[in-house]
Amino acid sequence: MFKPINTAAKRSAIELYVDGHAITARDGDTLAMALMNAGVVAFRQTPVSGAPRGPLCLMGVCFDCLVEVDGRQNVQSCMVEARAGMQVRLPTGARRAEGGA
Ligand code: FES
Repeated sequence: MFKPINTAAKRSAIELYVDGHAITARDGDTLAMALMNAGVVAFRQTPVSGAPRGPLCLMGVCFDCLVEVDGRQNVQSCMVEARAGMQVRLPTGARRAEGGA
């Protein structure tokens, strides 16, 4: 789907997990790029209509690339680097309440 512009720099492969499924990314990729390279199109669904959303700007402006990373909700996947072992969840519906007392 996507091809890197700079192929001179060989980067090692890393493995992370999306909804429990292993995907492979290149070290240094953003999480959004890793997901798109793995064929993920809809990163989340809106809480109101359930409409699918995917990355649009890839520079932290549109907030359409929100995912859950290692239990942390609403992470802009275009603004974080993919890490080995990262646990990613593609959110559906409204944000869950956190914490509790
Ligand atoms: S793609 Fe727009 S904020 Fe991430």
